[in-house]
Amino acid sequence: MSKINRRDFAKLGILSGAALIFPRGARGQTAAFSRSLSFPPVLSPTSTDATTDYYNISMAAASKQIVSGRSTTIWGYNGIFPGPTIKAKRNRRVVVRQTNNLSVNTSVHLHGGHTPPNSDGYPTDYIAPGSFRDYVYPNDQLPATLWYHDHTMDFTGRNVYNGLAGFYLLTDDLEDALPLPRGRYEIPLVIQDRTFNADGSLSYNNSGMTRINGFQGEQILTNGTIQPYHFVERRKYRFRILNGSNARFYELALSNSQAFIQIGSGAGLLSAPVSRSSIVLAPAERVDVIIDFAQVAGGTNLVLRNLRGTGATSDVMQFRVMAWHYAKDNSRIPNVLRPVDRIPESSATVTRSFTLNQTMGMGGMTFTFNNQPFSQIRIDANPQLNSTEIWTFRSATQMDHPIHIHDISWQILDINGSPPPAWNMGWKDTFVVPALGTVRVIGKFTDHTGDYVFHCHILEHEDFAMMGQFRVS
Ligand code: C2O
Ligand code: CU
Ligand code: CU
Repeated sequence: MSKINRRDFAKLGILSGAALIFPRGARGQTAAFSRSLSFPPVLSPTSTDATTDYYNISMAAASKQIVSGRSTTIWGYNGIFPGPTIKAKRNRRVVVRQTNNLSVNTSVHLHGGHTPPNSDGYPTDYIAPGSFRDYVYPNDQLPATLWYHDHTMDFTGRNVYNGLAGFYLLTDDLEDALPLPRGRYEIPLVIQDRTFNADGSLSYNNSGMTRINGFQGEQILTNGTIQPYHFVERRKYRFRILNGSNARFYELALSNSQAFIQIGSGAGLLSAPVSRSSIVLAPAERVDVIIDFAQVAGGTNLVLRNLRGTGATSDVMQFRVMAWHYAKDNSRIPNVLRPVDRIPESSATVTRSFTLNQTMGMGGMTFTFNNQPFSQIRIDANPQLNSTEIWTFRSATQMDHPIHIHDISWQILDINGSPPPAWNMGWKDTFVVPALGTVRVIGKFTDHTGDYVFHCHILEHEDFAMMGQFRVS
């Protein structure tokens, strides 16, 4: 096949601005906004009873067409990337039987789930190739945009990168009764970055500088498609946006400078909507936003931009605003969403401190908590069941680290000594500790005893031991 270069396109008169992407090297070429957005299918339970919905998922390799003219081998839940969406209702139990049909060990974690420890995907609770494990999710927690993903010791970065991640949307009657956009107007978007080799295969490494910076892909995919477009009506939509990337931070903004109305943060709805012109989303963070396309003229193509990107990584996807709509928009953004009861600082009985360090380890530079790489046999904190604690994370490194704590949701008390902005006043399971900065969070250890991990969600940091564990007893 003859190679077509940028000049040939110019000669043909079809090179228009940023409409074509030329990744570095002789890689597959895909025009931006040339493919429609797709949606991971909602998984149906294999059976249900009075209390529980039962699901079966098979982790398997499959090939998918992502890059023009090439096929890409992915690892997917049910062989699809991103994985199927699970919809759950508060206080209704979900049991997922995960069968590992891959050739490597896996472990599955429900991110943001308030889950008993034996179902939490502890990194060494392996599902060996050919075997299965039943994960029990009580869903006795505040509704939120959760996601499930691989959590295998030392290999989370590779496994998630290969495709092992999917949405888990938890709702309740209060949220369902809010007049927010729903049905086809409530859209989950997972943003991920990937690099493809010339043959279409996924390129990944976690050595050298990647160990420090984390792996950053050259192309931005939304719901598994590189820079897709989606036709929208002139009305409000709700988008549950997940940064499912290993290490890349995004700063999302609309190309017409219109603001997003944020209604939720990672671990649940905010108490009231907040208008934001751009939103920084760290790995594993979720944001729940309303975009009102009624403010835009029909025929407009709006771009969801990434202000932290350059070239191909600066455009996430495109909204094609149609001149007509199916039906009147009856949705509203209520002034009160779900009141967030702030945990009083005085209710905390214990304060713990963790420093984020850059440490010279056996294989080179790594990051750690308190200068100690993760050890399965060391417990880094011992909270008592039903106690409230304040955890202080103080960074001695030059990078921003998204810190994630399993088991419970937290509230941010302050960032570098100042109270957080309104959009960071809600429930959080992942929060950014800024370079050389300090964040204090408060949380209550309810319901479950046992061992849980906390870690940086830059997956290459997690895999190289920027992880600790706590034992609730
Ligand atoms: Cu989203 Cu411990 O992970
Ligand atoms: Cu988690
Ligand atoms: Cu980190």
